[in-house]
Amino acid sequence: MAGRLLQSVLLLAAVAQTVYSQATCGGGKQCPEDKPCCSQYGECGVGAYCLGGCDPVNSKSLDSCVPSPQCQSKTYNFDNLDRVVSNTKYLGDASKADWVSSGQPLSHNGQVLLTMAEGTVGTLLASTTYVWYGKINARFSTSAGAGVVTAFILLGDSKDEIDFEFVGVELETAETNFYSQGVTNYNNGGKTTGLTDVHENMHDYEIDWQPDTITWSIDGKVVRTLDRDSTWNATANRYSFPQTPSRVQLSLWPGGLPTNGEGTIEWAGGLVEWDSQYMTNGYYYAAFDSVSVQCYDPPAGAQGSGTKAYIFTDKSMTNASVEMTNDNTVLKSLLGTGTNMSADYAHSSASASGSDVATVPGLNGAGPGTNGQRPDNGTDGGSSSSDNGGDNSGSNTASTTGSASTGFVQGGGGANGAGQLGGNSETVLKGSLFAVVVAIVGLCVL
Ligand SMILES: *[C@@H]1O[C@H](CO)[C@@H](O)[C@H](O)[C@H]1NC(C)=O
Ligand SMILES: *[C@@H]1O[C@H](CO)[C@@H](O)[C@H](O)[C@H]1NC(C)=O
Ligand SMILES: *[C@@H]1O[C@H](CO)[C@@H](O)[C@H](O)[C@H]1NC(C)=O
Ligand SMILES: *[C@@H]1O[C@H](CO)[C@@H](O)[C@H](O)[C@H]1NC(C)=O
Repeated sequence: MAGRLLQSVLLLAAVAQTVYSQATCGGGKQCPEDKPCCSQYGECGVGAYCLGGCDPVNSKSLDSCVPSPQCQSKTYNFDNLDRVVSNTKYLGDASKADWVSSGQPLSHNGQVLLTMAEGTVGTLLASTTYVWYGKINARFSTSAGAGVVTAFILLGDSKDEIDFEFVGVELETAETNFYSQGVTNYNNGGKTTGLTDVHENMHDYEIDWQPDTITWSIDGKVVRTLDRDSTWNATANRYSFPQTPSRVQLSLWPGGLPTNGEGTIEWAGGLVEWDSQYMTNGYYYAAFDSVSVQCYDPPAGAQGSGTKAYIFTDKSMTNASVEMTNDNTVLKSLLGTGTNMSADYAHSSASASGSDVATVPGLNGAGPGTNGQRPDNGTDGGSSSSDNGGDNSGSNTASTTGSASTGFVQGGGGANGAGQLGGNSETVLKGSLFAVVVAIVGLCVL
């Protein structure tokens, strides 16, 4: 997974006007002591780098990443955005926020709109709690238009992944997919066709994730089942089956950017048109009405009996390396890390003298005073680097105002591409584009 990601990150690190040197990580290359956390985009830092998405294997040590808040059964109605917090503000307290956002979510008629305006890379919401097996339902309508991708996925810090994805030119189709530890596999994708227009209509999409099976359903009807047994990988000596705690991620992102690989653009249905009929008020949007999470009991034999957090106890990143603990999950400031959670800014200089270490993935080059030293009065800052076609997540640039529910404010530039397949996405996409796996409704691919 690291290959393409690293490439783009390196490229962007060069392009972005970083005010600090950005260390990269991944594929066995670990982060240094002073910025110990490896973000899901393969960059090292502190603060938000150590929260959701922090890759324990490529961080300085397993405990560089902050423990992950445990699963909470809950229904999220998106009647307002009170419990959606920007990734520039969130410190790990899941009791205070349900979703961490990057990009520009908007509240509209009891729904949250994930928006994507020209010059941005869309919007991502990631749940603050992790699911370690459970039934997750999302009711939403997708965006439409060439190059525009809507996603509802589960993504672990291990890069285990379970997907529903939609490209904006196939409005009767839902794509399903899964990955184990981010390893590319061309045969994992599935397609369900014959849906009534997924842009015009809300549908219920459900992922039922159990230790032995994953079932994808649409409007209560099973469209695919995956048995763990069918995923045995003798080379790796484990099941290539998602098995570690994962966040729920909802995203809208541009697969069809000229800077993306050809295969990605083709898969996404072509280049994004920034004057499309599908844009409203200057942006594309996907509308999420609700998400419900029903947590299953921890698997038999799970390590530990704590009720607050999940941690990894070894680098195998399998189900057996997960422990349930009562560890603290909250940083005191964005200077904190898993091994120094109380790290804080020096008491005096309230704003100007930012530290020289990256604190929020995707905010490189934010400029003086914004690299982590965020005022708490609603001014996010920053432009950012870009990493199109990374894995399923995205981080948009910070917008210039926090008033998400009152009006759209375009972010200040490109940023980490919201959600996509595994790291080697160019090949993956070609794979999913040309693969013989063209499933019909109700077909179980594997
Ligand atoms: C099996 O695991 C190996 C090692 O991680 C990996 O290179 C290979 O792609 C996996 N095979 C499949 C079919 O996933
Ligand atoms: C982990 O998965 C294996 C199968 O690979 C299973 O036998 C074992 O019981 C699981 N353990 C936990 C703690 O989930
Ligand atoms: C934790 O971080 C603070 C800076 O906020 C630093 O002064 C302190 O030495 C660190 N503690 C450890 C144990 O690294
Ligand atoms: C709050 O925002 C204003 C600009 O609106 C800024 O001048 C001020 O420094 C900020 N306050 C703090 C504590 O950073």
